[in-house]
Amino acid sequence: MIRLDERLAAIASYVRTDVRICDVGTDHALLPCFLCEQGARDVIASDVNENPLEAARANVEKYGFADRIRLIRSDGLENIPPCGDVIIAGMGGELIAQIIGGCRFTSPDVRFILQPMTKAELLRRYLYSHGFEIAEEKGAAVSGKAYTVMLVQYTGKNRGITDEFAYFGKNTDKRYISKVNGQLGKLGKGDPSLLRLIRKELP
Ligand SMILES: C[S@@+](CC[C@H](N)C(=O)[O-])C[C@H]1O[C@@H](n2cnc3c(N)ncnc32)[C@H](O)[C@@H]1O
Repeated sequence: MIRLDERLAAIASYVRTDVRICDVGTDHALLPCFLCEQGARDVIASDVNENPLEAARANVEKYGFADRIRLIRSDGLENIPPCGDVIIAGMGGELIAQIIGGCRFTSPDVRFILQPMTKAELLRRYLYSHGFEIAEEKGAAVSGKAYTVMLVQYTGKNRGITDEFAYFGKNTDKRYISKVNGQLGKLGKGDPSLLRLIRKELP
């Protein structure tokens, strides 16, 4: 059985196994293989680079899921057919926003599972100003580093968000709050108005 770290496990927890899934920027394809172990039958593992796709191919064969996982070379969602759940994880918030912006099959039925490594605030602003909303958000930590994982859906309604929501979103994990507080403390040297966003941390 494949063991995922807390970050990948948090991502997997939002993915449905009874729809077509695409993992954009799959790299090692561990997540697609894990999802097949959980019962997924129609999975696309895609990457823009050939080397990660080779690593993905090796894992897909090792775990015996070549009949359920299609490997597709694609820049973002460019060459990807319509899917029910789209995972975009382990990339910067700007790149994730760009990839979502290029999606040809966005609809209220498609779910996006997003895990930005940087610029989560930029991604949240992008989502809400382009008709998306965050349904749920959860934290994960690996080797002392905290991450946020978002479950996102399209509503078609553009909405403004507060600075506080841009930075924290719906994530109430104290490890994530502590990380964002640290970022705000640093950014606050250039823009003191951000210091008011720092949240009280619970022990
Ligand atoms: C740091 S790895 C993340 C791997 C995995 N998604 C995870 O979260 O562990 C980022 C991967 O995204 C791929 N990538 C970068 N830009 C991309 C793009 N525009 N379209 C598809 N894949 C991309 C890279 O080749 C790399 O394999």
